[in-house]
Amino acid sequence: MTTPTLLPAILQAVMKGQPVALGDRHYPHWHLAPVTGLLNDPNGFIHFQGRYHLFYQWNALGCQHQHKCWGHWSSADLTHWQHEPLALMPDEEYDRSGCYSGSAVDDNGRLTLCYTGNVKFDDGTRTAWQCLAVQNAEGGFDKLGPVVPLPGGYTGHVRDPKVWRYGEHWYMVLGAQDLERQGKVLLLRSENLWNWENLGEIAGSTLGGLGDAGYMWECPDLFMLDDKAILLCCPQGVTREEKRFLNTYPSAYLCGELDYDQAAYHHGPLVELDAGFEFYAPQTTLAEDGRRLLIGWMGVPDGEEMLQPTVAQGWIHQMTCPRELSLRDGKLCQQPVRELAALRGEAHHVDGTASVLSPLAAESLELMLESSGDVTLNVADTLRLDWTRDGLRLARRSLDTGEWLYRYWQGEVKRLHMLCDRSSIEIFINDGEGVMSSRYFPPSPAMLAFEGQAHLRLRYWSLRPCMVE
Ligand code: FRU
Repeated sequence: MTTPTLLPAILQAVMKGQPVALGDRHYPHWHLAPVTGLLNDPNGFIHFQGRYHLFYQWNALGCQHQHKCWGHWSSADLTHWQHEPLALMPDEEYDRSGCYSGSAVDDNGRLTLCYTGNVKFDDGTRTAWQCLAVQNAEGGFDKLGPVVPLPGGYTGHVRDPKVWRYGEHWYMVLGAQDLERQGKVLLLRSENLWNWENLGEIAGSTLGGLGDAGYMWECPDLFMLDDKAILLCCPQGVTREEKRFLNTYPSAYLCGELDYDQAAYHHGPLVELDAGFEFYAPQTTLAEDGRRLLIGWMGVPDGEEMLQPTVAQGWIHQMTCPRELSLRDGKLCQQPVRELAALRGEAHHVDGTASVLSPLAAESLELMLESSGDVTLNVADTLRLDWTRDGLRLARRSLDTGEWLYRYWQGEVKRLHMLCDRSSIEIFINDGEGVMSSRYFPPSPAMLAFEGQAHLRLRYWSLRPCMVE
């Protein structure tokens, strides 16, 4: 350790902050959120020796994007989680400005983290090291130091290693910005996790037929689904369209074929992964039974995040629910993992004209919905979802100006599957063909009301709260 430790301050922040955050009426009943401070990207999501491990970007010392550590939870079933020892803190020269995002691998029975050591200089520039850490007998992590320096031809924005095993080698994708300020994804290969060869750019702005696709690509994740290679990425600086790519930064995917020998990735267009107001930096892992699972950050950097009312209670942001991925007609589909059904209370069925149905308590609600025509769902007058023949329009007021803001999902909507948890909603469209994830902050415990003359068929459950222990 070569820089002063943050540990005493973190401990104090948690002791003071946890009761305040957990007592906040916006604090989720069953989604993962920070016990105090700021949470952003999911990191190191892995199923290892019988348990899921989920790490997260965490600033325990406040709600700003500073002092990034890796917090750590584990779970056997994706619903009951427990706190694990803080995994990484920025206490070395090579990670002094933050232990940034990365992934976890099983290296011959040793849980090993690959993360970015971020180093900022006084003149506003920065550099980045890709680093390793390995779990010790106490459940904490010992840093092994940097293994990949900043590659030539890129600015200091090179980060977020996602590492996996294929055949006899380890592979890593990195998000990067080249010297022309174009966002790229690099592919690297190693025999031992220590010595890495840069195989070059496999995707990015101006590559693979994409045209200008942003100045920086963050948080890449590359994996096989059926016989396709899917690349998740967060391209910053993509042009906003009328009804797509409306967030400050979007989260997107490419679908194609990866040729490991040529380090070449042939892919189709960039597709938005979630059409809601808050979704970013998702990460996936393989479950023991072969399912590809995803967890995302239900937040977006910059924009209006710091105006969220939970900041006054000392905490900000939460994760999405764990989701299972599948490919349908070349489309990446997401559905809540089946394990979440364990949280369900009694099942209810209701049928009738929308405007005549009683409002539902939406504090902790799972709802499946079919409709004969146009309908509006009104969540506590804070969030409105218009369902018409053209698709969905989700409306929420700006926390800054109060004006209504909109997000869209275009296409025929046959059914919706929604999860509400106090200050968040996840709307799964047509069995996961689309998703809209958003936060909202109702003035009192939310009720969900139905408006319109369409005939609705509902199935719903209230969901049990689930403490992290
Ligand atoms: C994405 C991101 C990553 C970075 C991390 C820092 O939200 O900017 O690129 O590693 O957050 O917290």
